[in-house]
Amino acid sequence: MTKQPMYEGKAKQVFATENPDELLVYFKDDATAFNGEKKGTIGNKGVFNNKISTFFFNLLSEKGIPHHFIKMLNDREMLVKKLAILPVEVVVRNIAAGSLAKRIGWEEGRKLPSTVVELYYKDDALGDPLINNYHIKALGLATPEQVEIIEKYALQINEVLSTFLKEKKIELIDFKLEFGVHKGEVILGDEISPDTCRFWDSETSQKLDKDRFRRDLGNVEEAYQEVLYRLTGRRN
Ligand code: C5P
Repeated sequence: MTKQPMYEGKAKQVFATENPDELLVYFKDDATAFNGEKKGTIGNKGVFNNKISTFFFNLLSEKGIPHHFIKMLNDREMLVKKLAILPVEVVVRNIAAGSLAKRIGWEEGRKLPSTVVELYYKDDALGDPLINNYHIKALGLATPEQVEIIEKYALQINEVLSTFLKEKKIELIDFKLEFGVHKGEVILGDEISPDTCRFWDSETSQKLDKDRFRRDLGNVEEAYQEVLYRLTGRRN
C-alpha cells in the first residue's frame, strides 16, 4: 500500500492511500498533555491504542453506531474512512474528574446525578475552549442537526461502553469523541483509548489511563496494557 504523509498530530500520523475515500492512521508512542506543554513517550502506547480503539470500534459496529474504522492493518496502523472532521469535540462525563471537577468545585470521583455532555472548540491555538450551541451556530462550526446527531451518538456510545466496561471491572469516568462527515453522514472518527478516556478500576479506583502520564503517577505503560488485557485477554 502506498502511503502519502498528510498530517501529523500529537499522537497519530495520517497518510493518504490509493483510495481517495480512505486514510491510514499510524499510532505513535508520543504523549502530550496540557495542550502540548508536557511532552513524553509511553512505551508501546501506539500498539495499545491501535488495538484498544479497534476493539471499541468493533463493539460499536455490533451496536449499529457508525464510525470511520475499516480494519486494523498491523500493530500500529488502521485503515479508516476519510472524514471532514467537525471542529467540535464532545466530552461525556459520568463521574466528576479533571477539568469539570475543577470548574464546578467537586472532588474527583463524585458521581454526577445525570450524564453531562460538553462541547469544545477543536482549536489547538486556543487550547480547545468549552463552547455551547450558540457559539457553534455563531462560528458556523456545525449545523444544529449535526450537533443533535453528535450528542445522540455520544450518549449511545456512553451506554455501550459503560455497560461493557463494567463487566471488565472498569468504570468509564469520562471520554472525548470527535466526529466528521463522510458522504454527507455524520460518523464517529478519531480513537477511543486510554489517551481519550478516563478508566478507573471498579474495585480500587486505580487510574488506568493517561492521567498516570499527566500526573506523573508511574506505571503508565502497564495501565494501557491492563486495559488491553481486560478487553481482549491479550497483553500485546
Ligand atoms: O481534561 P478534561 O477533564 O476536560 O477531560 C475530559 C475527558 O476528555 C478525559 O477523558 C480526557 O482524556 C479527554 N480529553 C481528550 N483530549 C483533550 C481533552 C480531554 O481526549 N484535548
